Amino acid sequence: MAPYTPTQPALSWSIVGRGAIGLLAGARLQLAGYPIKLWLKTPEELLLTFTDIQHQEQRLLMLPQQTDLPIRQLLVPVKAYDVDNAITQILPHLADHAQLVISHNGIIPFQPLLDKLKPEQGLWFLSTSQAAYKATPEHVIHSGAGMSFLAKLTAESNSDADIIAAMTTALGPLSVVADIYPILWQKLAINAAINPLTAIENCQNGQLASPYYQPQIEALVSEVCQVATASGFPMDVASSLAKVYQVITATANNFSSMQQDVQAGRQTEIDAICGYVCQQAAQLQIAAPANQQMLLQIKAITAVI
Ligand SMILES: NC(=O)c1ccc[n+]([C@@H]2O[C@H](COP(=O)([O-])OP(=O)(O)OC[C@H]3O[C@@H](n4cnc5c(N)ncnc54)[C@H](OP(=O)(O)O)[C@@H]3O)[C@@H](O)[C@H]2O)c1
Repeated sequence: MAPYTPTQPALSWSIVGRGAIGLLAGARLQLAGYPIKLWLKTPEELLLTFTDIQHQEQRLLMLPQQTDLPIRQLLVPVKAYDVDNAITQILPHLADHAQLVISHNGIIPFQPLLDKLKPEQGLWFLSTSQAAYKATPEHVIHSGAGMSFLAKLTAESNSDADIIAAMTTALGPLSVVADIYPILWQKLAINAAINPLTAIENCQNGQLASPYYQPQIEALVSEVCQVATASGFPMDVASSLAKVYQVITATANNFSSMQQDVQAGRQTEIDAICGYVCQQAAQLQIAAPANQQMLLQIKAITAVI
């Protein structure tokens, strides 16, 4: 992680929640000299233990967002189903030129979020393959080295270079892209194939390498490719399937986030994964029975837990 070497003081960042990705980003930013505040449901100081990717431990004091209003830079690393509510809550506390970076799995429509913002406020999307988990509520572990893609969803502004520099520190290495959708659809194919099946089977990702699951995985991925392609983001079934199996192999011993959410009785991100595929498919009059089945099965499981 390159330290931030600005000519001006580092911009202060507010981070929503004390989740794994937010604390990973917050720890890396704070260690690089950025002032950080946490926007918490219950405002309180957090004495965080951060284990970096080289297994080095650091202790960091993170302060809650009670002062330093209005917020100028905001990272929103929450589950897809919480994004709208988080932004609605924070909206009155945003500066007129505030820059917001949202980061979550799955796809939600951006337009309702854009409609809430003032024309001068900026919205960005960051998609990450960095992996982190919380060993305890006060201990975050950077468990997998990945990378991130960042795209701006609103017009350019003077502070864009600063946002890119900060997100490189927070969750880089970073690639800035003009259109985030091709990245999101590719990730959606992987999530749609792995997350619900591992949650339903209550298994590690590696179990999906069994030929038993091949027809279901092929059906899920080919539906995502068909819907993405019809939406203007061409995706090839063979190469998408190859990526899914690469991820299954590379993460064989991991439990997916949806498997963990189901086991813990938490809400899942199924609406932003298979649900989004089904919504788009319906609009385009394309059948997506495999995604529909995963959506219904996950909803049924989480309803009874
Ligand atoms: N963890 C990873 O390795 C990883 C990797 C890639 C992508 N992602 C994606 O990144 C997103 C975040 O993941 P995560 O693992 O960091 O999730 P997480 O641990 O659930 O963190 C989200 C945090 O935000 C809090 N929150 C939500 N709405 C809030 C609000 N309005 N005000 C204050 N706090 C709020 C949640 O609090 P409560 O728990 O009290 O609701 C939770 O502590 C998800 O979409 C995930 O799929 C995660």
